[in-house]
Amino acid sequence: MEIFADTADLREIRSWLDFGVLDGVTTNPSIMLAGGIYDLRQGAQDIANVLGDKPLSVEVVTDDPQEMHRQAVEMASWAPNIVVKIPVITTQGEPCLGVIASLKLAGVKVNATACMSFNQAMLAAKAGATYVSLFVGRISDEGADASEVVHRTAQWLKAWDMPAKIIVGSIRETVNVQNAALAGAHVVTVPPKFLRQMIDHKYSRFTVAQFLADGQSAAQRMVDLGLSAGSNGSGSKKSVPTRAK
Ligand code: E4P
Repeated sequence: MEIFADTADLREIRSWLDFGVLDGVTTNPSIMLAGGIYDLRQGAQDIANVLGDKPLSVEVVTDDPQEMHRQAVEMASWAPNIVVKIPVITTQGEPCLGVIASLKLAGVKVNATACMSFNQAMLAAKAGATYVSLFVGRISDEGADASEVVHRTAQWLKAWDMPAKIIVGSIRETVNVQNAALAGAHVVTVPPKFLRQMIDHKYSRFTVAQFLADGQSAAQRMVDLGLSAGSNGSGSKKSVPTRAK
């Protein structure tokens, strides 16, 4: 399973790339605005450069399908790793499937975004989307079982050998990431604050602190016994007394 960062924060993106766990980034107009990125092209290019060949999703900013197509072609020209987010429907419920289909023909990779149901994801995959984004937090807001939606979509894509990948977004708690992973998501896109929560654990901190303190105590014992300090386990000829119980 791939992990994307759902952010426009370059510092966080660099960190998680350095940690070796990041496979891509997703943004949307709200994320860009919250990150103080008003120049979409410049902001997208900055992120795309940092990512190298890993994908960056950038969303069109229009409710008109024709204009979506135009913006998508332009956005795709900003960097080779840009995937264009096309909403699965307009604000008025008009399908954007034709835009997805024609962009596929034009060689533009599409992330069909704002999918809240298996049906929407299924149709977007049929239309040729590279990714279908299921927004689990928002699906749960509506009272539906988001994991079941992810699971059904994953089963269907597999059964019919469809190339589209599910991106699970709208993560609200770290448990959403686990549920998405187990439900068969191909990608989970996670805001950095949840990535940090995923790796942290108070008992790990305690355990690391305990081992560190005992290691330092052992080193001090060596100094006290006149053995060479800092060579614990390597330079010492004499055996080191075991820790008193
Ligand atoms: C995913 O691609 C979206 O950017 C994002 O996850 C939407 O999440 P939200 O429901 O927190 O806005």
